[in-house]
Amino acid sequence: MSYISEKMLGYVKRASWIRKMFEEGARLKQRYGPENVYDFSLGNPHLEPPKEFFETLKEEIEHSFPHVHGYMPNAGFPEVRETVAEYLTKEHKLRFSASDIVMTCGAAGGLNVVLKALLNPQEEVIVPAPYFVEYNFYIDNHGGKIKVVPTTEDFNLDIEAFARALNKRTKAIILNSPNNPTGQIYSEESLRDLATLLEKHTQNYATTVYLIMDEPYKKLVYDNYQVPSIFNIYQNTILVTSFSKDLSLAGERIGYLAVHPQIGNKEALLETIVLANRILGFVNAPALMQRAIKHLLSISVDINAYKKNRDLLCSKLKELGFSFLLPKGAFYVFPKTPIADDVEFVQVLQQERILAVPGSGFGGPGHFRLAFCVEERVIKNAMPSFEKVAKKFGLV
Ligand SMILES: Cc1ncc(COP(=O)(O)O)c(C=O)c1O
Repeated sequence: MSYISEKMLGYVKRASWIRKMFEEGARLKQRYGPENVYDFSLGNPHLEPPKEFFETLKEEIEHSFPHVHGYMPNAGFPEVRETVAEYLTKEHKLRFSASDIVMTCGAAGGLNVVLKALLNPQEEVIVPAPYFVEYNFYIDNHGGKIKVVPTTEDFNLDIEAFARALNKRTKAIILNSPNNPTGQIYSEESLRDLATLLEKHTQNYATTVYLIMDEPYKKLVYDNYQVPSIFNIYQNTILVTSFSKDLSLAGERIGYLAVHPQIGNKEALLETIVLANRILGFVNAPALMQRAIKHLLSISVDINAYKKNRDLLCSKLKELGFSFLLPKGAFYVFPKTPIADDVEFVQVLQQERILAVPGSGFGGPGHFRLAFCVEERVIKNAMPSFEKVAKKFGLV
């Protein structure tokens, strides 16, 4: 027997290539200077939070009240949950109440809370690929099994693949739209088809399949695309979101989850979610951040900055012969690699001082992910390196 969890040791070992990649990136930055290494590897927003965030923080600190830094109900401050409920009521034209909302430590905290509340051992969670790699761990954290299904050529939902994957052990589906890593927004039509399929499945198996909608990029959309309102499509939906991306508050660990007002088994579900938030060790979402975001629900960072980056990077990649879906939202692009081995291709990019992530890490081999939440100059300075790589593989 090992002194440390064998499962965790296994995870560390399997993730070693990612660590090696980051170590190599750090080595390159040391050797050539950070300004000469073009780091597109992380989804950590480069924009500062909007000025309203700092103004609100100041005001909240000045207008303190007793026990403001103490424990609170595990679901969060009632007045903050009420404000979120009002916001969602307007957005979805569906009456939410404060009890439908639980404040969380980011979307990651929210996803873990929901999965802990839902899963019995070995129950399955279907995830369309490519997907946010952490879902593997979150599902396993709570004894579930991930079942990965493919998407269509343009990364939209493949309903037949869901039909093949559903069975009596299916407990939930996790969808992330706008998507990390593809930038796709799942179409309303495909979501409706999925909802119809799930409703039929529910009748056949006398069970409930919950749809967990992971939407931290919902406000980061381009070209007037709209993210369809999932609450108006499927009743057994739990929305999970955060302010990490749209307010650049990733380090502050603040988000919320919301259940559909008519969700199945609502009372028991909410009780278990709130208990999960407590016993997973989150206890409650950060107090000061809850008070701040109460005033910031409808604002975001300047999306034009990301759009400008997207257009600059994507027009260059296109000119160089790379093929990809133009991202409709989020701040990632997921081009095809010119060779089958995406890990090898990312190593070639590294030789030209470009840091990217292989698609295999997202269940999307044969692709690489570039995060364009970076200073504009990083994109501009990287262009000669992209050109060199494109020439090397005969793309131009
Ligand atoms: C799809 C997706 N879901 C969840 C998260 C977790 O974000 P948070 O900082 O809100 O926990 C991320 C972070 O990159 C993400 O890309």
